[in-house]
Amino acid sequence: IAEIKGGHDEGLDRLGQNLVVRGWVRTCRVQSSITFIEVNDGSCLSNMQCVMNDDAEGYDQVLSGSVNTGASVCIEGILVKSQGSKQKVELQIEKLIIVGQCDPISFPIQKKRASKEYLRTIAHLRPRTNTFGAVMRVRNALAYATHKFFQENGFVWIASPIITASDCEGAGEQFCVTTLFPSSREGHNSGVSDIPSTKDGLVDWSQDFFGRPAFLTVSGQLNAETYATALSDVYTFGPTFRAENSNTSRHLAEFWMIEPELAFADLDDDMACATAFLQYVVRYVLENCKEDMDFFNTWIEKGIIRRLSDVAERDFVQLTYTDAIELLLRANKKFEFPVKWGCDLQSEHERYITEDAVGGSPVIIRDYPKDIKAFYMRENDDGKTVAAMDLLVPRVGELIGGSQREERLEFLENRLHELELNKETYWWYLDLRRFGSVPHAGFGLGFERLVQFATGIDNIRDAIPFPRSPGSAEF
Ligand code: 4AD
Ligand code: MG
Repeated sequence: IAEIKGGHDEGLDRLGQNLVVRGWVRTCRVQSSITFIEVNDGSCLSNMQCVMNDDAEGYDQVLSGSVNTGASVCIEGILVKSQGSKQKVELQIEKLIIVGQCDPISFPIQKKRASKEYLRTIAHLRPRTNTFGAVMRVRNALAYATHKFFQENGFVWIASPIITASDCEGAGEQFCVTTLFPSSREGHNSGVSDIPSTKDGLVDWSQDFFGRPAFLTVSGQLNAETYATALSDVYTFGPTFRAENSNTSRHLAEFWMIEPELAFADLDDDMACATAFLQYVVRYVLENCKEDMDFFNTWIEKGIIRRLSDVAERDFVQLTYTDAIELLLRANKKFEFPVKWGCDLQSEHERYITEDAVGGSPVIIRDYPKDIKAFYMRENDDGKTVAAMDLLVPRVGELIGGSQREERLEFLENRLHELELNKETYWWYLDLRRFGSVPHAGFGLGFERLVQFATGIDNIRDAIPFPRSPGSAEF
């Protein structure tokens, strides 16, 4: 359907062609001897209006009441000029086959608009709605544009591992990997209750990756760094996991992250790359997902097209962390979390900065206090701050977190020591500083937050096909 409707003059160039449409019935209206069936195949938001006379093959399906919302159909016909004003072309049906029936009473997707909360409980059927179809097509376009941007700029894609022994962010928010041994223990059937235990009966989750501790990765950065210090610019794009028990509209336990790593680069190069990347992907969806973006602009967030166009055109505001704190202290506003130099910025602070202080533009904040940032960030000459940057956008807050990495062995060893992190775990990471170290920098962009930003979807659980958050891993 996208191919036809997206063609020259919304399909008029293909009049008279014999076509087959396979998809799901959205509506069926019987008007005396003419029946109108709207079919959607998920390739675009538009339906194909299919018109059936009572002498067409398969009309008995209409008579028997099988052409219901949700049923899957295969329709053959001829593309003709539409009499209606809503579309330029329609399919004159020659043959209709019901591929899969759908009971109109029990089908959970009804014409009446369902809440997003309800749709989350039927995550297997919500892709049949306009909103989720549109979100997933835009998500797909953003993924494609991501690879396109980095490939066109000479970056090499690196697959970072999902199972790892190190905690990149040092925040202790990792899920543990464990093994189930269903066949080796008598009296147990396989299943989740069959958990491994030590001799004294205690479960030791931490040693269970073939006798060693292993975790699901929180970030592919450290692995990306090893390849950046060999292949120059690289990027990863894959799933990452955080065991943070936070029920917010911007946190998931499983999310996808895009992590470029630039060799022979400093924080300014990193910020320039983040800006160019964000502008590129935003421009890409504006140009290539027009129908879906119009839908979001009307139904999800009024004005989103204007807002995204501004992002694609304008320079982003840059502030140091110290400036941002000053700005918050001067704000004529009482925050729930008090502001002082050294504090982490909370979402209320981020919202004030992006939405009130700079009037709705992305903001990059740099040079954060080293005590609130990860061990690998490069210390600035003041000894108090590190070369870190966060890119904040209105509504979503932190979209990107990045930094210049500490490439000096001595500084890095001292930092691990100060933070009481185990040097042995990071022996290979330290090797990168021993053998041909280079200044390098990178960032991580939360892909679902980008989907939120680009579609206007409020809750991050609606920006991924199957959200994983506390209490939801059913589908
Ligand atoms: O700021 P973070 O924790 O940075 C890192 O992981 C670095 N190692 C990245 C790097 O420099 N290569 O996470 C990066 C981004 C955040 O800005 C946010 O967009 C997203 O990942 N993010 C989450 N998205 C959804 N759910 C969560 N629980 C997230 N935690 C972080
Ligand atoms: Mg961060």
